[in-house]
Amino acid sequence: LTSDNRPDVVWLHNAECTGCSESILRTVEPYIDALILDYISLNYHETIMAAAGHAAEEALWETVEKGKYVAVIEGGIPTAVTGTANEPGGHGKVGGHTMLENTTKVVEKAVATITYGTCASYGGVQKAAPNPTGAKGVAEVFPGKPIINVPGCPPNPYNLVGTIVHYVTKGLPELDDVGRPVAFFGETVHDNCPRQEHFDMDEFAPSFGSEEAKKGWCLRKLGCRGPETFNNCPTVKFNQYNWPVQAGHPCIGCSQPDFWDGADWDGET
Ligand code: SF4
Ligand code: SF4
Ligand code: F3S
Repeated sequence: LTSDNRPDVVWLHNAECTGCSESILRTVEPYIDALILDYISLNYHETIMAAAGHAAEEALWETVEKGKYVAVIEGGIPTAVTGTANEPGGHGKVGGHTMLENTTKVVEKAVATITYGTCASYGGVQKAAPNPTGAKGVAEVFPGKPIINVPGCPPNPYNLVGTIVHYVTKGLPELDDVGRPVAFFGETVHDNCPRQEHFDMDEFAPSFGSEEAKKGWCLRKLGCRGPETFNNCPTVKFNQYNWPVQAGHPCIGCSQPDFWDGADWDGET
């Protein structure tokens, strides 16, 4: 890609914590300045764009009107009917319109939609029971649309940058049965975990901070969901530096469709 043929990108924030945006700001390959100056034309992003108010809204709808853009969605979509007006999606609004309404317009004309983070991909913590806002993942709200899921809580910026570059240069990447690019989510965390030799020898750390944990013993009995979780954290790491299990914390399955409500693990192997 060169700066002459950068794809237009619009980035929507729905029900979220902005952790996904925080993660993309820390991309290292390329750095964020190169990403938005050389690789993509980021026409709308509420957290980092200089424009505000009506000027920002204009930038969004001008791009949508023009078409041929990639949509990146952060956050789940509130869908519950609420308020005295019985408004669908009324729990979440931007610029006077519901997130549901805005996302519907943006996804409708996008050449591809990438959900960035588990909230956008599958609902995540926004959808956790009892889910009073009726939050849902994007693909659940817009079945049949070309949607690529790049989950994680937070997701790894490497996987988003790689997905955008793949889409722009080669088209839709191969996806698994829950919409994730196989290139990034084709193996489990456990498949590439450096603690796996201890798992194989039944050497399980008995507690956090124990000598066994520090020696690299397996964290399965402390709640690790690495064997059920598809993501490339052990090989890509965050900022190419560290990842949860290396830091002594179990994988909690943040890139899986059942995160958050299904994230409990009883510690049995
Ligand atoms: Fe925040 Fe996680 Fe949701 Fe991203 S996926 S918005 S980091 S809660
Ligand atoms: Fe597998 Fe988790 Fe143990 Fe690593 S710490 S070997 S991912 S169960
Ligand atoms: Fe998430 Fe597990 Fe990686 S919790 S960040 S998929 S190690």
